[in-house]
Amino acid sequence: MILLGLTGGVAAYKAAELVRRLGERDIDVDVVMTQAACGFITPATLQALSGHPVYTDMWDGRIANGMPHIELSRDKQAIVVAPATADFLAKAALGLADDLLSTLCLARDCPLLVAPAMNRQMWEHPATQRNIAQLRRDGVTILGPDSGNQACGETGMGRMLEADALAEAISAFLAPKTLTGKRVLMTAGPTFEPIDAVRGITNRSSGKMGYALARAAIAAGAEVTLVSGPVSLPPPVGAAVERVQTAAEMFEAVRKHAARADIFIGVAAVADYRASAPRRHKIKKTEEKQLKLSMVPNPDILGWVAARPKPPFCVGFAAESRNLDAYADAKRRRKKVRLMIANLAQNAIGADDNEVSLLDDAGIHRLPRASKARIAQQIIEHIAGLCGTKPRKSR
Ligand code: CTP
Repeated sequence: MILLGLTGGVAAYKAAELVRRLGERDIDVDVVMTQAACGFITPATLQALSGHPVYTDMWDGRIANGMPHIELSRDKQAIVVAPATADFLAKAALGLADDLLSTLCLARDCPLLVAPAMNRQMWEHPATQRNIAQLRRDGVTILGPDSGNQACGETGMGRMLEADALAEAISAFLAPKTLTGKRVLMTAGPTFEPIDAVRGITNRSSGKMGYALARAAIAAGAEVTLVSGPVSLPPPVGAAVERVQTAAEMFEAVRKHAARADIFIGVAAVADYRASAPRRHKIKKTEEKQLKLSMVPNPDILGWVAARPKPPFCVGFAAESRNLDAYADAKRRRKKVRLMIANLAQNAIGADDNEVSLLDDAGIHRLPRASKARIAQQIIEHIAGLCGTKPRKSR
């Protein structure tokens, strides 16, 4: 559980969304608001979203020993202040404690993360930059800020990170470092096999599950190389991304990195066949009354990695439309991979959540429907367990 502190800035509205995004990642939140924050968003909203009472006052009688400024942080993994105003950062840098949130920050025994939100001139002011430098020296983690349009109408640095990016950063910060020192090689997204200059064959895949897994592996401390087919997703921060189009290119990239990998995760929906002789120019229907495509099989990338003399720990994905467990287990045995993640294609493709089964030597382990970010985290925990790495907490 974390403690989320809100100070008085327009970006307070993003904190409501942040609480939801954290909930999707199973991160429970207690909320503390300054008086100024209550001018932008009401405690009732944060109470409804977090499912817990919201605290705004040093003298709140609901804490049994009358010391909310100490008690509220004692069971927390971290305090996150979002939005963090210039004024709050100045107070925190100096160690001032004149309200509930600033006192909690000073009296805490857990890490502090802040997400600055302010006008660009306030952000660039030497006083703010001095305070940020001081907070960094004190071990505080600074999340953002971003640049872009500001509530005041100006454009520049100082915008608070969006709720999704903040939730991602917080969950990465809290994740047990189970894959520290491990090198993870992954494939994700579809492949695109050209037929002519403008057409091709592909598989339906958004890449969301693979990208979520890459982020979860990075959060667990791994060094990640992601070989990605064509997707419209931002690259996971911290991953070395190699973009490819065809299965042959994906295979080439995997061959290049396979020897260094400790873990290989094949998430890509690789096209099983490609055109044997793709045309250089666009096929004209006036010229070809009937089109016959000759296709040849693509290399099995996962199968090749698993068959190496000293293979990494191999994980495969099976997207089936029926007979999920039986087909997935047969695939696991055929490809000789330690772990196969099975999902129903019709439930998973393009969606933001998923429901999967993990098949390994010990049997079947089901993960109930959850966001792909949460599913990815659980898969990484499972892989770390099978690889024999012990969790190391980030604090
Ligand atoms: N895979 C691969 N290279 C291929 C095909 C698949 O690396 N040429 C990987 C996928 O990334 C995934 C797993 O293998 O991890 C899927 O297995 P596969 O048997 O190829 O699945 P399907 O193509 O769906 O097989 P089938 O048509 O038999 O269901």
